[in-house]
Amino acid sequence: MNVLRFEDLIARGQVKGRRVFIRADLNVPLDAAGRITEDTRVRASIPCIEMALNAGAAVMVTSHLGRPTEGRFKPEDSLAPVAQRLAELMGRAVPLRANWVEGVTLNPGEFVLLENCRVNLGEKNNDDVLARKMAALCDIFVHDAFGTAHRAEASTYGIAQYAKVACAGPLLAAEIDAITKALAHPRRPLVAIVAGSKVSTKLSILQALASKVDQLIVGGGIANTFMLAAGLPIGKSLAEPGLLDQAKAVIAAMQARGAAVPIPTDVVTAKAFKADAVATVKAAAEVAPDDLILDIGPQTAQRLADQLMAAGTIVWNGPVGVFEFDAFAGGTETIARAIAASSAFSIAGGGDTLAAIAKYGIEKEVGYISTGGGAFLEVLEGKTLPAFEILQKRAAG
Ligand code: 3PG
Repeated sequence: MNVLRFEDLIARGQVKGRRVFIRADLNVPLDAAGRITEDTRVRASIPCIEMALNAGAAVMVTSHLGRPTEGRFKPEDSLAPVAQRLAELMGRAVPLRANWVEGVTLNPGEFVLLENCRVNLGEKNNDDVLARKMAALCDIFVHDAFGTAHRAEASTYGIAQYAKVACAGPLLAAEIDAITKALAHPRRPLVAIVAGSKVSTKLSILQALASKVDQLIVGGGIANTFMLAAGLPIGKSLAEPGLLDQAKAVIAAMQARGAAVPIPTDVVTAKAFKADAVATVKAAAEVAPDDLILDIGPQTAQRLADQLMAAGTIVWNGPVGVFEFDAFAGGTETIARAIAASSAFSIAGGGDTLAAIAKYGIEKEVGYISTGGGAFLEVLEGKTLPAFEILQKRAAG
């Protein structure tokens, strides 16, 4: 992907003394007391900020937090907890500026966090006047917010149109590189795992991947619908019978290319959806009318693990069972450990997937862990994200 990279500007000595505006994705989960419960995105945003400071720039950073009402700032919308966490991690003061659109006073070597950009009127609709004002604040706009790359908002898209220079920050660039490696030029076989409760929420991903991947492993409620499509009983498991034709079409599209959707041959069932429910392993063909399928069985998990071990590239989105309940976590753990042990290049994304990766402690063994939620899913759908589109346009001049 041809985009200007911030690192290249630094290497060419074009950043010193400049005003740099970084759009980061610091949209982190907070508990009821306003404390950050998971700070991956804050940590992932620091290299770009430090890079800009070390290069001698005056550095402004902003992000959205949640989905506040524009024009009505409330204390719970504030980036204050993020400023505090950044200050702890960076070992320096991180001043937080509100009402910054009309101007920011800042010297080279200084760093200021600009309050929640989604409170500005016109942010969501990519208002032209707002975008031009933000662009006027800086010499260089750095898009480093992959998690927000699927949004075309004033601080992500309009500003990139109008800033004197617009480039990709190191996090966005790393995401671009990993996605390109996994999906545009994959080492084969390319195996994708798409799991989740509903086919309907991931149908477009399944359809897009059906034309690309060599094995499409489905899991969770999605697998149940595919099992139904394959003529297997699923008892009272979560499924979408209305989408059987679409599931059959995905299987047919894969088969026509000599590729496959592996259907579970054994499953772990329970009579109730609860952590202490009795788990029973049985053949997929023997699921009873009052059974709930809560995980793939050990035989299926091992077969999938063998395929993952033989893969050249793995794309992972979604746990294959109810891994939050230990009795139904075996399938997801086997898959996770196979991904960790495989020599394939692996890329993983999505909230539940990241939780599974953390549970099994395989962060270091996964090739790339995406910071994107919705953005990662849109990439899997084969969409060109607005952030990439505008940066490519700017790079083309
Ligand atoms: C995310 O959490 O996926 C990103 O920060 C985007 O947030 P949004 O869905 O509110 O645009």
